[in-house]
Amino acid sequence: MFGKKKPEKTNLEIIDLNEDSALSSDKNPKVLIEFKDVCKKYSQGEHDFYALKDANLTINEGEMVVILGPSGAGKSTLLNLLGGMDSASSGHIMFDGEDLTTYSDNQLTKYRAQNVGVVFQFYNLIPTLTAYENVALMKDIKDDTADPLEALASVGLADHAHQFPSQMSGGEQQRTSIARALAKNPRLLLCDEPTGALDTDTGKEVLKLLQDMSREKNRTVVMVTHNSFFADIADTVIRVKNGGIQSVVHNDTPKDASEVSW
Ligand SMILES: Nc1ncnc2c1ncn2[C@@H]1O[C@H](COP(=O)(O)OP(=O)(O)OP(=O)(O)O)[C@@H](O)[C@H]1O
Ligand SMILES: [Mg+2]
Repeated sequence: MFGKKKPEKTNLEIIDLNEDSALSSDKNPKVLIEFKDVCKKYSQGEHDFYALKDANLTINEGEMVVILGPSGAGKSTLLNLLGGMDSASSGHIMFDGEDLTTYSDNQLTKYRAQNVGVVFQFYNLIPTLTAYENVALMKDIKDDTADPLEALASVGLADHAHQFPSQMSGGEQQRTSIARALAKNPRLLLCDEPTGALDTDTGKEVLKLLQDMSREKNRTVVMVTHNSFFADIADTVIRVKNGGIQSVVHNDTPKDASEVSW
């Protein structure tokens, strides 16, 4: 029920504000992101190919969102647009009332630096830097970053701060990459298959960490996955197919990450 628009109204920002105050008080949702008829088009010879076509969706602040869909559906495209790492061919992408599609390159760089953290399937840690140094890198990007040791402690890695990625397990490396994203204190945490390289138990730990971030710290977590079991833990599930949004389903009673099995 969160974020559903009343069709007769046309001013999106006003709708969102009005609906916010009328919605349930337990999560006190505020619309953070809105896609309006967003397309991402690539020219292929004489034809245009749409990696994403006429996408419309709304994401509330503090939500845990899962994006599901088969390979090539447009999931990473959607995530990259959300993160300002790619630009739309048409349509509007609103973030906290600002239209990202009107931003200059400089403004987009600032948007990414200030607001977006990213966690990838294969961690993307710098192999010649320790866990601490990998997390400390965020200080070069943003002023008000968290203390690297605190960020590592928050993912249970205080004792591993001086290890290099090659000296850590996959789960520890992924937790380091989450600590790195966390150190930035981003409003939006984007995760592309964050458990894809992990065994089930370690994957569950990572899911729990991401869910806690949304539940306890009110960060907006958007996770792309092929694993439909993850739908159970999401506040909102977005299904993508052939470049189109098939459905956006809100779940009032998401499971705890520790309960999900696959
Ligand atoms: N730079 C590009 N140029 C041309 N086509 C692209 C480009 N980037 C993505 N595509 C195409 O857009 C479609 C959607 O790609 P996307 O990476 O979003 O899929 P996905 O859902 O993330 O798939 P996967 O689950 O395999 O990661 C694919 O058919 C892909 O080949
Ligand atoms: Mg992808």
